Amino acid sequence: MNIAITGSTKGIGYGMAREFLKRGHDVMISSRRPAAVEQSVADLRVEFPDRKVLGQVCDVADYAQVETLWAQAVEGLGSVDTWINNAGRDGSKVPFFALPKEDYLQTVQTNIIGMLNCNRVVIPGMYAQGGGTIWNMEGFGSNGQVRPGVSVYGATKYALRYFTKSLVAELENTPVKMCYLSPGIVVTDMLVPPPEQRGEGWEQVKKIMNVLADTVDTVTPYLVEGMLNSTRNGDAVRWLTGRKVGWRFFKSRFVKRDIFTPLGL
Ligand SMILES: NC(=O)c1ccc[n+]([C@@H]2O[C@H](COP(=O)([O-])OP(=O)(O)OC[C@H]3O[C@@H](n4cnc5c(N)ncnc54)[C@H](OP(=O)(O)O)[C@@H]3O)[C@@H](O)[C@H]2O)c1
Repeated sequence: MNIAITGSTKGIGYGMAREFLKRGHDVMISSRRPAAVEQSVADLRVEFPDRKVLGQVCDVADYAQVETLWAQAVEGLGSVDTWINNAGRDGSKVPFFALPKEDYLQTVQTNIIGMLNCNRVVIPGMYAQGGGTIWNMEGFGSNGQVRPGVSVYGATKYALRYFTKSLVAELENTPVKMCYLSPGIVVTDMLVPPPEQRGEGWEQVKKIMNVLADTVDTVTPYLVEGMLNSTRNGDAVRWLTGRKVGWRFFKSRFVKRDIFTPLGL
């Protein structure tokens, strides 16, 4: 299969690309930074010399760049069976009244406008090629959960689930499938702030993360297997279910996990 992943030069996107390649699929890598795209493609070509790995710079907030990413993916891979709207941004974790305007605008530009741009470009493209599946990446807030300091990110992911649900209905009985992807809590640059921004609450956050968070290497095989096994419009592949959360907290009374030290964090 041919896979295109937005925001795939690091974190969960890069991890999913590796897992698709391991399973014999070809991928289009992308993100905003040319050097990161070039480096990721070079690294993946070394690791998977028998697979096709393409790269294209794309800021999902820019409609024309999304059109180019789609065109380059189709030209280079022949078609795109699976498109993953993974690119995402989390702003500063401060109360909304203290959040700089530029910060929340960027979060909305990437998580909402970018996600809409990609769906708007890819749905007709997939229809024209005879079908395909789009996965929209959920996040904190998708299920309506609220936490101080995460209002804008949470609002964008809440909206993403609503939008995806609407599109599942719109695309029923068409060859294009619309699905939900949810990685749980994953130790990436998005989750772990640089040392100077960790603040006093970081040790408390770490305690919760040590119960609930996982690494890219743990979560991405599950996500990729789930996507490869999906057959229906509206399918959801979600790593951290309510049941798993309950089990993790129960287990934490007896077994202490340390997810950060092995990663040097
Ligand atoms: N980590 C978690 O615990 C977690 C939990 C739930 C959901 N998620 C979701 O999972 C997705 C991936 O998160 P992650 O933790 O892997 O983040 P990450 O490590 O920060 O990686 C984000 C990727 O997106 C790219 N990106 C950011 N803004 C972009 C834009 N406007 N256009 C194109 N690419 C852009 C980044 O590259 P450039 O900066 O070079 O563009 C990077 O490749 C996000 O949608 C996030 O909301 C993450």
